[in-house]
Amino acid sequence: MRTPIMAGNWKMNKNPEETQAFLDGVKGKLPEASKVETVIAAPAIDLTTLVAGAQGTPLKTAAENCYFENEGAFTGETSPKALKEMGLDYVVIGHSERRGYFHETDEDINKKAKAILANGLLPIICCGESLEQREAGQTNDWIAYQVAGALVGLSADDVKKSVIAYEPIWAIGTGKTASADQAQAVVAHVRATVKKLYDAETADAVRILYGGSVKPANVKELMAKEDIDGGLVGGASMDPESFIALANYQ
Ligand code: G3P
Repeated sequence: MRTPIMAGNWKMNKNPEETQAFLDGVKGKLPEASKVETVIAAPAIDLTTLVAGAQGTPLKTAAENCYFENEGAFTGETSPKALKEMGLDYVVIGHSERRGYFHETDEDINKKAKAILANGLLPIICCGESLEQREAGQTNDWIAYQVAGALVGLSADDVKKSVIAYEPIWAIGTGKTASADQAQAVVAHVRATVKKLYDAETADAVRILYGGSVKPANVKELMAKEDIDGGLVGGASMDPESFIALANYQ
């Protein structure tokens, strides 16, 4: 059985003070990690506050990005080794905003996945198609291509521990959610892709999230789908009450 995950991605929002206010707001109101794992991915400047505040609570913590080297002359980048030493659990990689605005390639994402796992962190690997690709009937091929690209050279054991998030670009921050059936169809395709690349055991173990305008009003329907193991939530993860509602969707 796969433990569900409700993960917030704050993107470039909140400062340390606002991070602390969020932590105070969710304190004592999140489910046990064995029931639903809750994760917040926050900007780098908030991570010290986030990790300190999450200690002794079920909340797990994530960075929104990192580099694929552990140290060196890489101005402005964040080291996966340092993230591990700080006490982080996850790193989100391959978000469509990073692919789009910052020109990240599948090769970069694959290198990051390897560096994250090598440092004892877990990647949340994002994939997703544009509206043009969906309308041209290219969704499944594109998603399989992104998933295969991200996983090159990863062992089955590494993939089992990793998380994949399907986020159709046209549903991000637009209020336009993929229908639960649309989300399930692509998430099932991601699982089938993992099965093809590895085996049934790996495909059964890997947790696959849906992201794109997830909110308390639609989370139940999405989570009822067989292959959807959780949500990667932007806007609706920033308010404590909304995140508490998402985390307690059951
Ligand atoms: O990573 C989460 C995300 O891109 C979805 O954002 O605001 O549509 O929930 P939102």
